[in-house]
Amino acid sequence: MKRLLLKKSLESIQEEALDEEHGLRRSIGPVSLVLLGIGVIVGAGIFVLTGQAAAQNAGPGIVISFMLAAVACGFSGLCYAEFASMLPIAGSAYTYAYATLGQFLAWIIGWDLILEYTLGATTVSIGWSGYFLSFLKDFGINFPAALSGPPFGFNPETHRWFLTGAVFNLPAVLLVVFLTVILVRGIRESAALNAAIVFIKIAVILAFIFAGIHYVKPALWHPFIPANKGQFGLFGLSGVLRGAGVIFFAYIGFDAVSTLAQEAKNPKRDMPIGILGSLVICTVLYIAVSLVLTGVVSYTKLNVPAPFAVALDAMKLFWFSPFLKLGAVAGLTSTVLVLLLGQSRIFFTMAKDGLLPPWASKVHPRFRTPYVNSIITGCVTAAAAAVLPLGIVGEMVSIGTLLAFAIVCAGVLVLRHTRPDVKRVFKAPGGAATPILGIFSCLYLMAGLPLETWLRLVIWLIIGLVIYFAYGIKYAHARLKPKPRVSVTSPRT
Ligand code: ALA
Repeated sequence: MKRLLLKKSLESIQEEALDEEHGLRRSIGPVSLVLLGIGVIVGAGIFVLTGQAAAQNAGPGIVISFMLAAVACGFSGLCYAEFASMLPIAGSAYTYAYATLGQFLAWIIGWDLILEYTLGATTVSIGWSGYFLSFLKDFGINFPAALSGPPFGFNPETHRWFLTGAVFNLPAVLLVVFLTVILVRGIRESAALNAAIVFIKIAVILAFIFAGIHYVKPALWHPFIPANKGQFGLFGLSGVLRGAGVIFFAYIGFDAVSTLAQEAKNPKRDMPIGILGSLVICTVLYIAVSLVLTGVVSYTKLNVPAPFAVALDAMKLFWFSPFLKLGAVAGLTSTVLVLLLGQSRIFFTMAKDGLLPPWASKVHPRFRTPYVNSIITGCVTAAAAAVLPLGIVGEMVSIGTLLAFAIVCAGVLVLRHTRPDVKRVFKAPGGAATPILGIFSCLYLMAGLPLETWLRLVIWLIIGLVIYFAYGIKYAHARLKPKPRVSVTSPRT
């Protein structure tokens, strides 16, 4: 029992962060952090899931769903920023939990983050494949159907699995392999590629918004929240809530910025800027996009893999469609990239603590990246993207991440109580209200998600408990080593 509550001391964490001579390279500034944040936030959530959630759950009320989700993210984002500016080290929520709530909850959250990042990257690479194939089709290139999707699908209305006739999703696999190679080669290259892609995707989204404004028919917004169809989550207020849980996925990723704290040039100043800046920009974009989307085409027509393309067809802007798809392809690429990046950094930190085997923290002698775990993450993500359907993994990611956010908010509360002495360069405003509202808003969004999703989360957590009690608890050494070192390799100067 005592072991489960073991905490990493704040001082040892701060010392790891200050270890400039060893470990990961400090090369990222605040602008790159905001770009990395947008790079990961804007992805399959807005490009794919918005249309599906509007058509199946909330109608034009999806705009309210976006606001609800933004509120939950805002509270959690403030808590993340407080933590990240105080404990500037790779590992994000996992490390925060280790310092405040003890080893056991840290493991739970780390395990949960694997769900967020690995399955998040899986979801987005599946969405990427959809836009990519649609883009190819615009030019008359038809990819073999057998290699274009997963072998199984899930019907949420009948709650049954079915065979799709396809074998596996080859484009999604190729994307993950390509990005894994980039990540193994190093963070500097990754940030530069990401910045270029972010500009493209923001450009196409802004073009969509400004072109769409002229075609909005306010009549399509009536009723703004279609009447409930007799089942929880099928329109009405419960539909708006479920929609918020589903499109919460669209906000996931601002927390990935905090996993890069160890690679930021000035983490205390840059972390809050990176996390909150990217969150605010994305919220404004999402509200505008969902207003335009539901204002130019009936929400009933948006349950398709490429809802933006349907809206452009309704506006008769056929020429814009290939450009938009190309922007989506670029946008989704950067999201997968940063999710894979965040995952490998979490593995890195958990392995340094002994909760995972030592290979997961092995740093490449030349590239200075955690290459072994990057390659393993890439393989698992590619395999999952090859065979799983998008909707299922998307909801899993949302529920897992909401749980992690709730624990982070709780951690802020605990740490303020147990260690009021530690200097907080950034302190979330609003006193205890902010973390408390963060916890409740995350739980509220979780409550709106389907029962099957809850069950899958429970199964995932049980698997995590088995691994923890079979391995992690025996080898974790956070408290046993007073001065943990960040890396085992010598630096590249
Ligand atoms: N927020 C990211 C997306 O929407 C994960 O794809």
